[in-house]
Amino acid sequence: MRPSKARPRAAIAAKTLRTDKWRTPPLTIGAILLLFIVYSTVRLFMGRYYVVGDYGYLTPLYSPCLFKDCVPAASHFGQPLPAMPFFIPLGAIVFPVVAGFRLTCYYYRKAYYRSLWLSPQACAVQEPHKKYTGETRFPLILQNSHRFFFYLAAVVLAINVWDALHTFRGADGHFGMGLGTLIIWINVLALAGYTASCHACRHAFGGKLKHFSKHPLRYRMWVLISKLNPKHGFYAMVSLWTVMATDFYIMAVSAGWFSDLRFFN
Ligand code: FES
Repeated sequence: MRPSKARPRAAIAAKTLRTDKWRTPPLTIGAILLLFIVYSTVRLFMGRYYVVGDYGYLTPLYSPCLFKDCVPAASHFGQPLPAMPFFIPLGAIVFPVVAGFRLTCYYYRKAYYRSLWLSPQACAVQEPHKKYTGETRFPLILQNSHRFFFYLAAVVLAINVWDALHTFRGADGHFGMGLGTLIIWINVLALAGYTASCHACRHAFGGKLKHFSKHPLRYRMWVLISKLNPKHGFYAMVSLWTVMATDFYIMAVSAGWFSDLRFFN
């Protein structure tokens, strides 16, 4: 039952009475996020070592590579766009989509609201901000764009799958497979898990329906996504690491730091 009058908050002078390590999880995730941002920014502006043409390996940070100054082997969809000045990286198409998708993701929001934005900082911890307006004002109202980023990210995922199909190629043009193939496919699976378990994906299939019985296919998809959805945080973290690991492996092989371990051809 709703109380007739708003009750005042308990007058506790201490910032918090919590004695557990409530800062550790958000700070850890915040640090990993920062690492990803720094790593991907450095790689984006490097402009080199993003493709291993012999084996069809292309880093997800540069795909799709649609500019005239892309290495031809990296342009699985042609080069319809002109060459760009140095301050526009070759990954300029994909980066805003991926960054927007992750930045507005509910899981990451929770992490950086607690670790960086400090609003709310944690349950039962005093607010450092004077007032709490949630996501009703600028800039946080922009978080509502998440559903649109989801559709764009689904397109990027389809592109990643297409890129991964190119990795079954040997140096002589016939079938081949190496450690890079495995790494790239693991990354695609992690990204698929992350995208499919997204809350916006669940809503796209099961939202705004009055009768599931009239939409059996959407119902089945909704049931499937609902099983993945509780693991969204897991996929969010794993896919962050697999993107970095995939990019690093391709950079290392492309730069000649070591050779790809080949299983076939
Ligand atoms: Fe995390 Fe949609 S809620 S990607």
